[in-house]
Amino acid sequence: NWTPASFVESTVAELREKLGTDKVILGLSGGVDSSVAAVLLHKAIGQNLHCIFVDNGLLRKDEFEQVLHSYKDMGLNVKGVDAKQRFYDALAGLTDPEAKRKAIGRVFVEVFDDESHQVTDARWLGQGTIYPDVIESVSVKGPSATIKSHHNVGGLPDYMKLKVVEPLNTLFKDEVRLVGKSLGIDPNILNRHPFPGPGLAIRILGDITPEKVAILQEADAIFIGLLKEKGLYDKVWQAGAILLPVQSVGVMGDERTYERVVALRAVTSVDGMTADWSHLPYEFLALVSNEIINKVKGINRVVYDISSKPPATIEWE
Ligand code: XMP
Repeated sequence: NWTPASFVESTVAELREKLGTDKVILGLSGGVDSSVAAVLLHKAIGQNLHCIFVDNGLLRKDEFEQVLHSYKDMGLNVKGVDAKQRFYDALAGLTDPEAKRKAIGRVFVEVFDDESHQVTDARWLGQGTIYPDVIESVSVKGPSATIKSHHNVGGLPDYMKLKVVEPLNTLFKDEVRLVGKSLGIDPNILNRHPFPGPGLAIRILGDITPEKVAILQEADAIFIGLLKEKGLYDKVWQAGAILLPVQSVGVMGDERTYERVVALRAVTSVDGMTADWSHLPYEFLALVSNEIINKVKGINRVVYDISSKPPATIEWE
């Protein structure tokens, strides 16, 4: 019978057997899956696991620094790479959601490839692929494969010529969390909401600029911070703020303002395939709205998304 501890024990033994003294490269995203995969591999092969954590400039506020710090605390051999400008340059002027996703995917591969060349004699690419990702990538008719080009799976460029090792590819998400818990991983990482690979780029409708990213990071941090403070974070499956490409009239003191609109999105879901909008308390929404409008320069209106999936998607792009 399956227990997290027995899974860890047998997987670590298999990984040692399979990898020997080979070096493995693994890209960390800050999410549950890649973090658990990294800690398992680290337990098996120690410093022969070389982790790469890329700052694409599209993460949540302060997330790169905080997560890098906790990876180091866990003893992982991790290199943080500041590639913000490369991503912003590639995104400049792009407004089409799929074009933005493709540009981000392409630059990620380039940056990751550059970094992986720094690790001499690497033989393997470690990935945090979980069982549903395996299913989704083989069923070509899967809605997210056709509607949006997810790039978590199959993002391996041919020229890297590395063999793939995926220690979590038989597990479901809840099992990954249990394994992570038995490995002693920070609950802040394990219970983190899903976050899309293209990050805030698909939550800024229209073109991306560092200024828009900074505005959205502030609004998002207020929303997520208050969800945690009020004990609502674990009750929603995913949440975030979306920066809309419209301005609206407002009034601040005696001044007329003409500034941006932010939409808040929070959903309940089991696997992201279907989702219902979270019925967050009005008082809570009022608090978030006031905080954002008072504290984030450039935003004068906040709206709440009350669309379910289907027919809407969770993300707006
Ligand atoms: P949608 O918007 O399709 O999102 O209802 C379902 C789940 O997938 C995430 N998502 C992505 N994840 N790359 C990712 O890694 C993407 O391009 C992408 N698009 C959507 C979304 O955040 C939600 O959890």
